[in-house]
Amino acid sequence: MGKGADIPRFKLNTGQYIPAIGLGTWQSKPGLVGEAVKTAIKVGYRHIDCAKAYGNEKEIGDALQDLFREGIVTRGDLWITSKLWNSDQHPDDVPKALAGSVERLQCGYLDLYLMHWPVALKKGAQGTAPEDFAPLDTKATWQAMEKCVESGGKTKAIGISNFSVEKTEKLLSYAKVVPAVNQVECHPVWQQKKLQPYLRSKGIHLSAYSPIGSGGSSFTEHIKVLDHPLLETLAKKYNKTPAEIALRWNVQLGHSVLPKSTNANRLEQNIDIFDFEISEEDMEKFNSIEQVRILRGDDMWVHDTNSPYKTVEELWDGDI
Ligand SMILES: NC(=O)c1ccc[n+]([C@@H]2O[C@H](COP(=O)([O-])OP(=O)(O)OC[C@H]3O[C@@H](n4cnc5c(N)ncnc54)[C@H](OP(=O)(O)O)[C@@H]3O)[C@@H](O)[C@H]2O)c1
Repeated sequence: MGKGADIPRFKLNTGQYIPAIGLGTWQSKPGLVGEAVKTAIKVGYRHIDCAKAYGNEKEIGDALQDLFREGIVTRGDLWITSKLWNSDQHPDDVPKALAGSVERLQCGYLDLYLMHWPVALKKGAQGTAPEDFAPLDTKATWQAMEKCVESGGKTKAIGISNFSVEKTEKLLSYAKVVPAVNQVECHPVWQQKKLQPYLRSKGIHLSAYSPIGSGGSSFTEHIKVLDHPLLETLAKKYNKTPAEIALRWNVQLGHSVLPKSTNANRLEQNIDIFDFEISEEDMEKFNSIEQVRILRGDDMWVHDTNSPYKTVEELWDGDI
């Protein structure tokens, strides 16, 4: 069923293969996300990007159970990622948080578990107000993540998300397990020009979030990646949509992409990117696109008190 077996995969530093496209589930509303997962898997997706913070893991798990029962896929056919939320960073809480995601997703184990942000919140914190912050101890958290994978635990690989070059470099100075993945914003208007070559040199796979510019997010009211004239021009040339051009650009750079949709037509459209190739000459044209980071995180993680980041430059180590 579906075209899942045909989806290209990228080899990780663990020896595992991550499917080049995964379904994003952030802001996929209750009542819609389960159907989106079912539709996606039926049209060939084999990779689902989840997180405790998205508040929809249980509905995704129920949808997976239906798919398994109907014999459409088996657990082994799928790649399931989830993320450690910032309020679970205390080492004692890391294995419990992982077990919680596995239980909600009803999938037995994860293929990949990511540290969601280089930010720590107090246990049980619901918001991102200054009083919600806890002291950041990434080393202790990462060591607890390492135990989850070393002991044949509930995840097959571990990684990071939203880590700059500097923050990744610092983590590598003490890591026994090199992160398999750094999941970060990446699309033609924020290409991660500094992080991309760095991660490649360290053998860390880049997974691209918001790969079509996070169209539905409140962060992007004034930036519409898909309206960029180069994407429109190339869409006409290759007889594809601007979204397909944006996704294909990332995949040709060796990045997995995680487009979110709850719309059946767009789910089909977004995976229809493996039957054409953007020429080398056209790939070079992306270099001249003006760069803007869309998910800056300053409204959540930058505070004068308690946060380790007093400015947005500190959060991203100047890469903004
Ligand atoms: N690690 C992190 O901190 C982090 C941060 C952000 C995102 N993520 C992950 O990455 C995923 C994707 O990022 P995102 O949700 O920010 O943004 P995105 O996938 O770039 O964009 C999603 C938006 O684009 C619309 N859309 C989908 N396909 C389209 C198409 N072919 N043409 C036009 N519009 C289309 C969607 O609406 P419809 O649903 O109506 O189609 C939605 O409004 C997330 O869902 C999440 O899994 C991770």
